[in-house]
Amino acid sequence: MNPLLRTPLLDGLELKNPVMPASGTYGAALEGKEFGDVRELGAIVTKTVTPKPRKGNPPPRLAETPCGMLNSIGLENPGLETFLAEVLPRALELGPPVILNLGGESLEEFEWGVERVQETGVVALEINLSCPNVQGGALPFATDPEACLRIAQSLSNRSELPLFFKLSPNTHLLCEVAMAAVEGGAQGLTLINTLLGMAVDWRLGRPRIARGVAGLSGPAIKPVALRCIYQVRQVVEVPILGVGGIQSVEDVCEFLAAGASAVQVGTQHFREPLAGVRLARELGELCAQEGFSVQDLQNRLGKDRKRNRDH
Ligand code: FUM
Repeated sequence: MNPLLRTPLLDGLELKNPVMPASGTYGAALEGKEFGDVRELGAIVTKTVTPKPRKGNPPPRLAETPCGMLNSIGLENPGLETFLAEVLPRALELGPPVILNLGGESLEEFEWGVERVQETGVVALEINLSCPNVQGGALPFATDPEACLRIAQSLSNRSELPLFFKLSPNTHLLCEVAMAAVEGGAQGLTLINTLLGMAVDWRLGRPRIARGVAGLSGPAIKPVALRCIYQVRQVVEVPILGVGGIQSVEDVCEFLAAGASAVQVGTQHFREPLAGVRLARELGELCAQEGFSVQDLQNRLGKDRKRNRDH
């Protein structure tokens, strides 16, 4: 392990480097392995798995945009039982610790899912409260601090595994929701999920995505992600997994400096399947060249945060 890249997240959860794929952009890393050595990733984060199988939304459900893409996949997945039996064992064999991203349509589904995945070999759960492409985009748990507090309390009472709550930028109450998640027992947060967006084919007179609105990701949302991490870092101390448009090692450093504890690489994986592996390597090279560690990089904006809080 390169000591400069050591990334302690929680007691008992330390990664060899801070780079992992963002949920939904890398499956369970099984295809990534066809391209190169995914063992170099700090962790693997799975596509959202829900208690019941889901076919997802009707096509078209992807559209490229300037500096990003829109998706409205609708949490297509084989369901938790099939995933645990057929996919997870192969993902665990790859080597990096696996974080399972869990979705659900109701509090009860999340509760059932959290209980079901205990002792399956994953090191943590990422609780997806923020997919904008299901339930009419309502996001009840990610926009209402009270609702977030209740689900966080209920799920943390049922889990020995650390829970990272993945939150949405599509609310003006992000800091309040983040504080509620932590008060309820979340050990960490993932910031951010996609922004609501739209693309229009005016010639055909219809949206480019069948469902109309969709989630925008990619470099276009990087400034929003940095802003969210920076603001939430002022109100919580738990680890934050930062995600939103990361393409370069400079981007990784910006996220760490803004307050992220580790980073997730998403949209870039669609055109460069080994982007995460490359960024982990480049980060090691940069740290060695500049003589700093990942932990030195974190909190570079600490003083600035304090100044902004004081004014
Ligand atoms: O539609 C989707 O499957 C996207 C999920 C998400 O953004 O969390």
